[in-house]
Amino acid sequence: MLKSGPNIALPSTAQAVDAASLGRHFGGGDDLLSLWIAEPYLALAPPVVSALQDRAGLGWYGHETRPESLANGFWAWMQARHGWDRGELHTVVSPSVGTSIGVLIDQVTEPGDGVIIQPPVFTDFKPLVTSNERRVVRNPLVVGDDGYGFDLDGLEVAAADPSATALILCNPHNPVGRVWTAGELALVAEICARHDVFVIADEIHADLVLEPHSFTPFGTVATPSGVRWAALHGPIKTFGLAGVCDTLVISDGDDVVGGFESTSSRFHLTRNNVFGLAAADAAYIRGSEWVDELLDLTATNAALLRDQLPDPMRLVELQGTYLAWLDFRDLGMDVPELAAWLAESARLALSPGHWFGREGAGFTRMTVAVPTQQIEDAIARLDQAVAGGGS
Ligand SMILES: Cc1ncc(COP(=O)(O)O)c(C=O)c1O
Repeated sequence: MLKSGPNIALPSTAQAVDAASLGRHFGGGDDLLSLWIAEPYLALAPPVVSALQDRAGLGWYGHETRPESLANGFWAWMQARHGWDRGELHTVVSPSVGTSIGVLIDQVTEPGDGVIIQPPVFTDFKPLVTSNERRVVRNPLVVGDDGYGFDLDGLEVAAADPSATALILCNPHNPVGRVWTAGELALVAEICARHDVFVIADEIHADLVLEPHSFTPFGTVATPSGVRWAALHGPIKTFGLAGVCDTLVISDGDDVVGGFESTSSRFHLTRNNVFGLAAADAAYIRGSEWVDELLDLTATNAALLRDQLPDPMRLVELQGTYLAWLDFRDLGMDVPELAAWLAESARLALSPGHWFGREGAGFTRMTVAVPTQQIEDAIARLDQAVAGGGS
């Protein structure tokens, strides 16, 4: 039974912030239902909102020394929710996940090296590789009737090339919604250890795992294999705080963390965001109940899509993230046709699957961290558009 918590729409003023990008990508218009950004479109956790209001109320926004509480709060949260112990691991603060990936690529690979990604995957990975003058090595996921998996044979071949020196792993995987198992991750770790490929594990969606699945930190499978790795975490996706919060880099290697710190200071990436600190503290100490409700809501909304999408549309099983990956291939439309049909006939702003790599063609990503009524509305729009025929 859902509690009243997160099942509350954003204030309309907040939704208006999205208006410019809605116009750019989907043609805009007041009746367009926006479910495309990977953030909760919900009233956010009350303890976090109060902490931000209190911090703003201080009326002083100068430098603030970064307290140990951010890392301590994170580790208490990880231990309580995922059974992951801090042990001897190192924790460094970084402004964003994208920053961390860019710095790590700079640090652990050389210009011209190959960096392996597994599309369809989060859109920022590819430009972070190419803008650092490295090569993208594509090892697409495999998809069958029972969902997505790693192409481990393909990974073995890609990793065996001596010029491929890093892999960006995404767990849970945006956009296909897989939560990789300990067994799958151990195989990835073994292959990368064998070929000395550094694993950058983007685990920013770690808290967003639906029962009966559970999150396995890459660090827990990395240590036995001996692979070099760093994992990226933080409260930004779980609590909808990408606009204010810092993120974290975790690793077991002094060299990785030391190198990260020296690159950060070279480019002066060490400045604090005072609001981020206040929000992260409140989130990790008092945000648990809201996240439980968010997960209930995500499961409810995913079940609606699974059961009520009109034929021939299908939800790919959602194991983690609040991003539903919808299989529209049987509509028989090509990429531009499907995009136009969704925006014009269904009046839905969804992320087209090909944004995540060519393997995503025919799929669409829908954010389900929204009030259930909006998912019902989206299904009704799809029903109507299907009944009305093509675009
Ligand atoms: C897998 C993944 N990594 C990173 C990010 C973005 O993180 P940041 O804004 O901190 O760069 C997102 C945002 O959707 C994401 O889904």
